[in-house]
Amino acid sequence: MTSRAVPPATAAVPVQDASLGAAVRLVRVSKTFPIAEGRALTAVDAVDLELAPGSLTALVGPSGSGKSTLLHLVGAIERADSGSLTVDGLDLVTANRRALTGYRRGVGFVFQRFHLLPALTALDNVLAPVLPDRRPGFDRVERARELFDAVGLAGREAALPSRLSGGQQQRVAIARALINRPRLLLADEPTGNLDSRTGRDVLDLLLDLRTRHPMTVVLSTHDPAIADMADHKVTLLDGRLASSSAPSAD
Ligand SMILES: Nc1ncnc2c1ncn2[C@@H]1O[C@H](COP(=O)(O)OP(=O)(O)OP(=O)(O)O)[C@@H](O)[C@H]1O
Ligand SMILES: [Mg+2]
Repeated sequence: MTSRAVPPATAAVPVQDASLGAAVRLVRVSKTFPIAEGRALTAVDAVDLELAPGSLTALVGPSGSGKSTLLHLVGAIERADSGSLTVDGLDLVTANRRALTGYRRGVGFVFQRFHLLPALTALDNVLAPVLPDRRPGFDRVERARELFDAVGLAGREAALPSRLSGGQQQRVAIARALINRPRLLLADEPTGNLDSRTGRDVLDLLLDLRTRHPMTVVLSTHDPAIADMADHKVTLLDGRLASSSAPSAD
């Protein structure tokens, strides 16, 4: 008689493992900006979204569809007007300033135009977000050097940004975003200023970093090939969620 392992009867319900990164939940989140003469523009319009810890989500949609605004809301760079936006249980819509300041320290942000400080070396750019830390055993320079290694730039710590290629500058910006060990990484068109090959390399790097440093990642992109590398693709149209593809079940 042969015996065979019987698969469990329960369906594979994804288990939310908080050690993999931040859990993000948006319920009817809206953001309206005042524009000229008493008119207002709703940049994010009643968006519902749930991002599992450790997932990588690509935000796509035409220019002006609200991708950057949505990232700014999730990063607490701007506050939503209504709805509920919780990250690891903290509601960013109602949280006080002090709670938001603490929250922002745990979020890494990468921008399309890198935003490195031109007068600082690559190393000092990466160290810029680190607060004085008296924890014994925390060596910020050592941590930065590990990150230079992780992003493939070991040995270039002393370079000024102007001496680095676009792809290398974006790698420095990614190292800077990771210096405080964020549970959530937000990237606004991180490959938008790079040629497609270099853009693909930067995305591969993010995917690789995620295996070593668990985190939830949300990025915006105009590049369909980059969006296809994500677990979850969210399409915005005029601030509304036009479609949201579930992570593949394999
Ligand atoms: N601070 C602001 N004040 C007024 N309007 C704004 C502000 N920020 C964004 N908007 C408007 O909100 C809408 C969404 O802008 P957003 O930058 O989020 O789009 P996007 O999808 O990121 O576009 P792109 O692909 O060009 O980066 C646009 O119509 C924009 O003009
Ligand atoms: Mg944008």
